[in-house]
Amino acid sequence: MIRSRIRRFVNRGGELPFGMFDVQYTEQEARRARRLENIYHVGQDRIWDGREVLQELIAKHGQPKLAEREKQALGRIFAIIMWGELAAWKISAQLADRLEALEPKLAASSQAHDEARHFYVMHDYLHAIDAMPKEMDFWSRRVVELTLGVDDLAKKLYGMQLTIEVIALTIFQRVRELEVEPVLTELLPYYERDEARHVGLGTQLVPSLIQGMTPAQQLDFALFELDLLLSTLMGLKGMEPDLLSIGVDPRSILGVGFRKITEVNKVMKSEFPDFPDDPPITRIFHGVSELLFPQEGAGAAVPLPRRAKHAALVAARRMEGVIEIWSRRGRVDADPPIVHA
Ligand SMILES: [Fe+2]
Ligand SMILES: [Fe+2]
Repeated sequence: MIRSRIRRFVNRGGELPFGMFDVQYTEQEARRARRLENIYHVGQDRIWDGREVLQELIAKHGQPKLAEREKQALGRIFAIIMWGELAAWKISAQLADRLEALEPKLAASSQAHDEARHFYVMHDYLHAIDAMPKEMDFWSRRVVELTLGVDDLAKKLYGMQLTIEVIALTIFQRVRELEVEPVLTELLPYYERDEARHVGLGTQLVPSLIQGMTPAQQLDFALFELDLLLSTLMGLKGMEPDLLSIGVDPRSILGVGFRKITEVNKVMKSEFPDFPDDPPITRIFHGVSELLFPQEGAGAAVPLPRRAKHAALVAARRMEGVIEIWSRRGRVDADPPIVHA
């Protein structure tokens, strides 16, 4: 202990984990480790050359162009996509450093490589259509910067793998379905395949980290979850007028996101049977969604007391909310699967 302290002092904090192979895995842990290792190897097998893909798509469809109205309306979404990729790159690089065991370290390193490609390709694409975003809106920025800044590993993994990745998958799918511009429509599936793989690092690690927490730590973790989820909702609310102007009801985004998170939760439940089915945070999220996006629809003037009553009933699970209702709409069969390595 003292020797290690002295060494850290002499080496200015730098230390290699020579004991990283000393841990004994149970059979279940060994299986999870293999899945995590696989995220790296599958990532390598399915790697794509960002410059080549973008050039080929532009050669196929011609120089991409977007009408001014769509460019304006999608401005916030483009900012979330491009700066979100930079955030994902930075966060996965932090994870690649912080995670000590070999297999999750490999998974995070492969993710950092993917996110770097996602960032420069999206930058090049947005440059080509002359829609380079300046900044992210306040709430979306809050979601990624909270995750970037948090020190706790469980919170960082939850924010990156189980929140930001799911938001990205949802946005990519809805933008792809819009078919606003053919190069973008064909580019997004490359992103979706990579992001779906990245979720796996969260499903394999987060539940066991939560299980190892004291009740006070679990409460603190739940408040962090709530902060991220409510910030996400506020971001979506801010985008509502723009989305409606191009024919996208933000409720459809909630519906697609819910289908994805349900799929992710099923995987965690199969791995960790004690993982809660409908925790209070989820109920609050569904209630607040009802308050901000009443199921009566975007054009309906629903008085606040009625909205609040519905929100309370949804949170108490005594009434079906906007999220469940919209999760059954749209092209449910067309959801690409979330791959679990
Ligand atoms: Fe990405
Ligand atoms: Fe990702």
